[in-house]
Amino acid sequence: MSTEMIQLFKPWYDDREIEAVAEVLRSGWVGLGPKTAEFEKRFAQFSGAACCVGLNSCTAALDMAMRLLGVNHGDEVIVPTVTFVSTAHCIAYNLGTPIFADVNERTLDLDATDVARKIGPRTKAIIAVHYGGRPVDMDALKQVAGSIPIVEDCAHATGARYKGRSVGGLGAVGCFSFHAVKNLAMGEGGALTINDKQMAQRAKRLRWLGIDKGTWDRTALDKSYWWEYSVDEIGLKSHLNDVHAAIGLVQLAKLEEANRRRRAIVDAYRQAFADIPQIRMPAPDDADFESAWHLCEILAESRDELSVFLQERNISTGVHYKPIHLYRCYGNRPSLPVAEGLFPRMLSLPLHPGLTDEQVRYIIATLRRFYGK
Ligand SMILES: Cc1ncc(COP(=O)(O)O)c(C=O)c1O
Repeated sequence: MSTEMIQLFKPWYDDREIEAVAEVLRSGWVGLGPKTAEFEKRFAQFSGAACCVGLNSCTAALDMAMRLLGVNHGDEVIVPTVTFVSTAHCIAYNLGTPIFADVNERTLDLDATDVARKIGPRTKAIIAVHYGGRPVDMDALKQVAGSIPIVEDCAHATGARYKGRSVGGLGAVGCFSFHAVKNLAMGEGGALTINDKQMAQRAKRLRWLGIDKGTWDRTALDKSYWWEYSVDEIGLKSHLNDVHAAIGLVQLAKLEEANRRRRAIVDAYRQAFADIPQIRMPAPDDADFESAWHLCEILAESRDELSVFLQERNISTGVHYKPIHLYRCYGNRPSLPVAEGLFPRMLSLPLHPGLTDEQVRYIIATLRRFYGK
């Protein structure tokens, strides 16, 4: 019996993150500044996109993506129903209508066939969620989408690769989350990746109330009067700051190692549950689909009883997600049979790089015991 609760997620920090934060605090520049710029440069290289804009969350990045693509009143944007509500809220923020699509039975990500059925004259964009960290089949989706821009919601997928290419540079815009429990964890943070340099410049203004120069740009680079700036359109205040960016730089350097450990834990679960017919493991990686393994979402018979059994033995679990078209805020939406059918069996097992081998063995043994093994 584990005496300590085993967390579902946990950031993987050591003295390097603590030192990085201390360095920023000592420097006296804790807002939007040089660490944010450095993170943006490194993350653009990492994701393969030409530009990266640091933001305070993936929700802000998704909202920005909608704005950049011109989503407005009367426009429809297609989203999968198995996702976090941010993926659809960002459409409503911009007065558009989310059109929910069903998910692929095996991978739980956007079902391209259902997307094809839902495309209409008002479809302005499609948001593809790389669910659990596994890349969406972007080539198949692009065939269906034609000229409609695809936004990648990469909240789960930092470090994932599709046909050898990093996610975030595969569609029109990529949106990342660096929230406390994500693969690259800053506490709070996000980024938008994009190839269009003009749109990236606009995003940099819009994250800073629409002001055309950040305080850092004004002090470090600009030779005009320090107080002078223009505001041509109204933006939010949604930029990344240097404290979080400094944590992000350390986390980025550790990301491959962290994701390797995540993959090894999922492999251990997969091997250990192979003889339990009541459990279905997530789709495995192959040459084309390399997941970042943010989630280990299993489909489990007697899910509710299992989650209580694990909780009572100090193992936290979660459910990602109740299909979001069922939430009242989106009104009455037509039924999406695959997602609704799978939801009662969905369960996320603990998955983070800091899990010890002993904890993994304990989780495996406890789950096996539940099913009488
Ligand atoms: C699929 C998905 N999209 C977007 C978000 C929003 O991310 P953030 O918390 O950084 O705003 C999340 C957060 O969990 C998510 O899981």
